Amino acid sequence: MKALMLSGGSGTRLRPITHTAAKQLVPIANKPILFYGLESLAAAGIAEVGVVVGRTKDEVMEAVGDGSAFDLKVTYIDQGDPRGLADTVLISREFLGGDDFVMYLGDNFLLGGINDVVERFRNRGSSENAHILLARVPDPSRFGVAIMDGEGKVTGLLEKPVEPPSDLALVGVYLFDPTIHDAVRAIEPSARGELEITDAIGHLIKTGKNVGASMVDGYWKDLGEPEALLEGNRMALERLTTMIAGKVTDSKIEGTVVIEAGALVVDSVIRGPAIVGAGTVVRSSYVGPFSSIGRYCRIEETEVANSIVLDNAVVSQIAELEASIIGRYAQVLKRANRPISNSIVVGDHSRLELI
Ligand code: G1P
Repeated sequence: MKALMLSGGSGTRLRPITHTAAKQLVPIANKPILFYGLESLAAAGIAEVGVVVGRTKDEVMEAVGDGSAFDLKVTYIDQGDPRGLADTVLISREFLGGDDFVMYLGDNFLLGGINDVVERFRNRGSSENAHILLARVPDPSRFGVAIMDGEGKVTGLLEKPVEPPSDLALVGVYLFDPTIHDAVRAIEPSARGELEITDAIGHLIKTGKNVGASMVDGYWKDLGEPEALLEGNRMALERLTTMIAGKVTDSKIEGTVVIEAGALVVDSVIRGPAIVGAGTVVRSSYVGPFSSIGRYCRIEETEVANSIVLDNAVVSQIAELEASIIGRYAQVLKRANRPISNSIVVGDHSRLELI
């Protein structure tokens, strides 16, 4: 079995972070979202992965390399502009050959991995042409949604329906046999101008193919927007184990905390779960639960919790920072001169909630 890992798209809902970075490379607990997915593929015994890239391909290729760091053999497939999830199957025809494959959306985070579902699909005999994973969500109209019959069989799928027929969202991990190749060729672009994988799976159902479905095991989240990203960060931090490799002086470390090598924590309280990246200096500050502080950051005289601070950012003399995402090289500083009013230089599509 092979895999397609989707790492293109424009990440509009994560702007401004995604103005300059691929959404799949935004870190939770200081590790890119994409890496959790690649690790899950390797853990499920998949060796050959086609990584579909788009406008951010240089950055993705640099981060993933030849895949050997994950025990994977990676082939890059360039989609250019985003033309839909089914289009990625179309353009990957040669790479996929006649094999079964997992399609994994690079911004999806599944805490329990995919071992079980991959194993079941491997051992299914000829009973299923495709298998989808579902999860109950409070806001189904933001996802692909399944229509089920009384026996738990999927009878249809709708992409982002205004009036959802159920609360069963399509999780971004799909298993296919080669019959999907005819389906992606048979469908037309949707109203948003993309070839939807949801329509391709719907086509399988309509043409009498067997599409199995099961509920996802454990925690799942599409990390495509800020609140979801912070939630995914909290879940990832909860899985850390304490490791203090950096230097800690005159400070209190409480709970599960990772201080990476080369980090310096002085005169501060770090209350886990939290991580402080290599080369970062935390001085006279409180880093509270569910904080991921990236590499080469400077946090001074600040209190921060439930937040993600990306590499090389500076936060100085900020009394209380909560539920925040701070981009690379961003500076959040207390105003030094009168008038003491807010002074901001803020990028396109940013969101600030000031007090
Ligand atoms: C895509 C799929 C959707 C699925 C979702 C899961 O949506 O089109 O069916 O439920 O991923 O993350 P997108 O996030 O591309 O809008």
